[in-house]
Amino acid sequence: MIFTVAIDGPAAAGKGTIGRALAARFGFRHLDTGLLYRAVGAKGGDPVAAAEGLVPSDLERDDLRSLAAGQAASKVAVIPEVRAALVDFQRRFARAEGGAVLDGRDIGTVICPEAEVKLYVTASAEVRAHRRWLEVGGDQSLVLAEVRERDARDMGRADAPLRAAADAVVLDTSEMTVEAAVARAIAVVEQTLEGRG
Ligand code: DC
Repeated sequence: MIFTVAIDGPAAAGKGTIGRALAARFGFRHLDTGLLYRAVGAKGGDPVAAAEGLVPSDLERDDLRSLAAGQAASKVAVIPEVRAALVDFQRRFARAEGGAVLDGRDIGTVICPEAEVKLYVTASAEVRAHRRWLEVGGDQSLVLAEVRERDARDMGRADAPLRAAADAVVLDTSEMTVEAAVARAIAVVEQTLEGRG
C-alpha cells in the first residue's frame, strides 16, 4: 500500500510527537524532514554542496536538536538549491510501499501534494516557546524570540514557505494534551483508511 501522511506546521507545535505516534500506530515509516536541513546547517561550508552530499550518518550527529542547529537549518532552508537537492529523497520516502509519515514545513504543499492525509499542526508562539523551553532550559524570553524569528523566516521565504495546504486538517494543539492531539490525528488517518475500503 502506498499511503502518505504529510504533517506540516511551525517549530515545536508537536509534529514530531504526532508523527512518531502515527507511525507506531499504523506501522508506517517516519521521516523528520527537519533533520535533513539541520544536518545541512550543521555541516558548515557551502550549504548546497552539503545538501548534495548528504549521507545517512549525517543525520546521526547528536547536536542536531539544539536551538542553534534549528536556526542554522532555517537559514539554509531558504536556499532553493538546498531544497531542490533534498526533494527526491523525501519524495521516494513518501511514496515507497508500506506507508510513510513525513513531518516538516512543505510536505503537503510541495514534497507530496498527493498525500492521502495532510495535517497542519500548530499552536500559539507562546505555547510552543514554553514547550521548547521545558526541553532546552535557559531564558524563556530568548526561546520565544527564537521561535518567532524562525516562524518569520520559514513563513516568509520565497521557495516553499510554510503554509497549510488547502486540503489540510488543521490541528491547533495550544490547549490540547499530547494524548488528545495524537488521538485526533489517529482518527483522521483511520477515517481516510476506512474510506479507501
Ligand atoms: O522541524 P525542525 O524544527 O527540525 O526544522 C528545522 C528548520 O528546517 C526549520 O526552521 C525550517 C527547515 N525545514 C524546512 O524548511 N522544510 C522542512 N520540510 C523541514 C524543515
